[in-house]
Amino acid sequence: MRRSIVLALAILFGCTTIQKQKAEPAKPDDLHFHNLQVFPQNIPREELIRNMRTIARSLGVRCNHCHVQTAESPKPEFDFPNDAKPEKKIARTMLRMVKKINGDYISTIKDRKQDVVCMTCHRGKVIPEVPAINLDEQPGH
Ligand code: HEC
Ligand code: HEC
Repeated sequence: MRRSIVLALAILFGCTTIQKQKAEPAKPDDLHFHNLQVFPQNIPREELIRNMRTIARSLGVRCNHCHVQTAESPKPEFDFPNDAKPEKKIARTMLRMVKKINGDYISTIKDRKQDVVCMTCHRGKVIPEVPAINLDEQPGH
């Protein structure tokens, strides 16, 4: 679990990977996907799926929360590149947000122990739950 989160981060936020890809265009047989706008175009299939599983677990949902399902049986089928579901678009915004939080802010903290991930806020819920403490007593409020 921990390893998969670290991997997910390395994939999501590894600027070096992204730069390398710009330098060497993906070979056609590396291109498994059709509508990636945040993840690298030639991300290996198993790495993208591992990231998707981590995202789903972080929100406590299944693939169909964000992806259009085209069949239920004999087995579930999805139109993964389709952007029709608003949840998928929000998820893309969230991916960009997390990338920016880590890249612009968390990365400036010396000896940092962790980056922000979906689980940091969502903790297994679609809408993050804010603990019921008295926020009026917090500094800065
Ligand atoms: C919280 C929303 C969310 C959930 C849940 C989710 N995905 Fe995704 N998925 C996305 C987003 C956003 C993208 C597009 C990423 C990008 O633009 O780089 C994507 C892209 C994909 C793609 C690439 C499609 C293409 O060709 O462009 C596949 C395949 C995929 N998801 C599979 C899955 C699977 C399998 C699951 C369940 C284990 C899953 N996803 C769960 C949001 C989600
Ligand atoms: C800094 C906290 C934070 C982080 C980190 C975060 N989110 Fe969110 N997310 C929120 C909040 C707050 C909302 C609820 C916004 C609202 O009121 O509708 C939300 C809403 C969403 C929704 C829409 C909920 C729905 O109705 O389906 C999706 C999808 C989502 N987030 C995906 C992600 C993914 C994927 C990640 C990791 C890449 C992520 N979020 C990381 C705070 C966060």
